[in-house]
Amino acid sequence: LSGTEESFANIPAESGLSINGRGHLTIEGHDAVDLARKFGTPLWVVSENTIRNNFRAFKAAFERKYPKVIVVYASKANHAPAILRIAVQEGAWVDVVSLGHVRLAEKGRVPPGKIVFNGNNKSKMELETAVRMGVGHINVDSLDELELLGKVCNELKKVARINLRIRPGMASRAEIDPDFVSQATSHKFGLDVPSGQAFECFRRALEMKFIEVHGISHHIGWTAYNIPYDKELDLARIKTEVEEVTEFARLLQERLNFKPRLLDLGGGYRKQRPHGFGPNRIASYPTVEEYADTILGVLNDAASWIGQPTVMLEPGAYMVADAVTMLSSVGAIKSVNSGLGAGKWVAVDSSAYFFVRKLIFNFYHHTVIANKALQASSEVVDIVGKTCAYDYIADKTCVPSLERGDIVATLDQGAYCETISTQYCAIPRPATVLVSKEQVDLIKRRETIEDILSQYTIPSWLD
Ligand SMILES: Cc1ncc(COP(=O)(O)O)c(C=O)c1O
Repeated sequence: LSGTEESFANIPAESGLSINGRGHLTIEGHDAVDLARKFGTPLWVVSENTIRNNFRAFKAAFERKYPKVIVVYASKANHAPAILRIAVQEGAWVDVVSLGHVRLAEKGRVPPGKIVFNGNNKSKMELETAVRMGVGHINVDSLDELELLGKVCNELKKVARINLRIRPGMASRAEIDPDFVSQATSHKFGLDVPSGQAFECFRRALEMKFIEVHGISHHIGWTAYNIPYDKELDLARIKTEVEEVTEFARLLQERLNFKPRLLDLGGGYRKQRPHGFGPNRIASYPTVEEYADTILGVLNDAASWIGQPTVMLEPGAYMVADAVTMLSSVGAIKSVNSGLGAGKWVAVDSSAYFFVRKLIFNFYHHTVIANKALQASSEVVDIVGKTCAYDYIADKTCVPSLERGDIVATLDQGAYCETISTQYCAIPRPATVLVSKEQVDLIKRRETIEDILSQYTIPSWLD
């Protein structure tokens, strides 16, 4: 058995989580067991104030040192319209990558001028929609897309504000990640800088009639999926990648007399979690101030040639990861007394196919037994989902003695969980509720078996 005894009373003070007098986990003061009873399980519970605090902390870290900052929430992390609404209320813009995202943003009442349209293969229809509605920026990913956008703008006689997404050499990433060199060949985003392709695309864009070029886009991103995370190395990588962007800006200025008004540096920042989070249970990230200082330090050093462009950042995961908790109910429990797989297996009514990064990258999501949050751990169990496959909710986890009906809380479910969940084994996806002090409301109804059935038909020739 791996893992040392962990006190389940030692839950993070952030995320609006606490324990009440009944010894139950609370989320923004709401008893998690009552929520599970009222709305059923599996259930995602979103803490509104945790999201608001994350937006405020992120923005403040940049604004304390730089005057022109636009925070763009990357809706791919969690696109619930209620969350997009909160993002807008916190002064953020919203990043979309598809027509579906655009519609969700409309539902969240995101002003069109505050939408940034990303993605490597926008269809003509998506570009037309973006230009017609007047989105804030379109981040163009290729020369092919630029020409298509130019055509759309000519047809509609409307101007598009664009940034061009570049792929710099990213030598710093290759240094910390031996796999990166091979991965880079299949990295599909952006215009290649070393070969001159990105430069040529800027030259072309600047001569196009209805295209207004604002700046450079480069998604700094996150590297820790396949490699051990090292805070200092990662900060060094971020610094080098921003330097690559400012060096490219210097080239544009020297050769094209074009000075970018805006640098969009993408997302990729993660929050430090007391219990660890992500692949290999990462516990030590830079603080948000260290992250901001690293980026802004490079911009400051380059001020003599870039001036003071608007800095755009596109955080997704940071804003929402710790704001959502999944609640599921314990069902069958069994012990295997010998041989392979010996140990205690606790099955819940949820599934890791609702948070597939657990399956792909072995993401760690901390577990708390919501109705026994103050009870000492007494055994090590595997908590598994109900699909017909490898389906670990939590492996080798210390828990109090469990029984049917107990409520398992799985933390840090806000980012890239619901949005990439599947209905594997025709198990409907959970409902989502938003909690905020006195308020609780459903923000996504539970999927039903009818929803799943309704998509299928049988051709008449099979009758
Ligand atoms: C262009 C772009 N911006 C922002 C993000 C958000 O990244 P994260 O959630 O890691 O902050 C992504 C993630 O894939 C992205 O591709």
